[in-house]
Amino acid sequence: MPRRSVEKLLAENLEAKKILAELGALLGAAAQPETSQRKETMPITVAKTVRELAVEVPNATRVFEKLGIDYCCGGHKSLEEACSDAKRPVDEVLRALEQGVDTASPQTARDWSTAPLGELVDHIVNQHHTYVKNEVPRLQALIAKVVGVHAKNHPELEQVQVAFSELANELAAHLMKEEQILFPYVKQMSAGKGCGPSCFGTVQNPIRVMMMEHDGAGEKLREMRRATHDYALPQDACFSYGTLFNALLEFEADLHQHIHLENNILFPRAIERERR
Ligand SMILES: [Fe+2]
Ligand SMILES: [Fe+2]
Repeated sequence: MPRRSVEKLLAENLEAKKILAELGALLGAAAQPETSQRKETMPITVAKTVRELAVEVPNATRVFEKLGIDYCCGGHKSLEEACSDAKRPVDEVLRALEQGVDTASPQTARDWSTAPLGELVDHIVNQHHTYVKNEVPRLQALIAKVVGVHAKNHPELEQVQVAFSELANELAAHLMKEEQILFPYVKQMSAGKGCGPSCFGTVQNPIRVMMMEHDGAGEKLREMRRATHDYALPQDACFSYGTLFNALLEFEADLHQHIHLENNILFPRAIERERR
């Protein structure tokens, strides 16, 4: 292509980009608020359930995680009840939620309650299932190492080892069921290919089983917390001990977020989609 026509094309391209940017700026004020403005105006009240707040309020799950509010398996409780369970004053949690809204960034404010279901499924698998599959063997090796050195003085580490091993086995089977049975069905619905024949009748059946298994996983996480007094490091803890507790805390936070996305967003939306 002659040089002049390339330059011309580039100039036209730049001009088009400029026009698009101006149009975007003009339309942005009207289009963007679909997610961000809607969320900003959501009232935060104690009468709402934890699930509603976790879905509607930007950064709510981060706040809940930090303050020990159960937002995944206990999402059906009112905020007041959940604060009482976590022994946190309601005012403190409300204040933190309001601050969370103010500091929400576009990255953390992705609105999965309106994103296509297929995208949400891909996000769960790519982000959270992959994380579990990578972390389980690493953590099992780390637990074995710390147990070998410290279990003599800290027998609770053996409890952690047993609980984590049971959790790992349950999760391996659970993720496989989601990836091979439930999620393909949800993606098929999401792609507008209808519900088609399934081996489980309605989607509510596998969802009920998945939610029961989530409850079981949540209990295993609580068991490890109880055994370690909320992952408090003893005086004689070595570097690996600290690394293990940090990794277990991260694993717990990731699993909470993972279960929140499924219990509070994906599953209700899949049930609704099938109904329609
Ligand atoms: Fe999952
Ligand atoms: Fe799950």
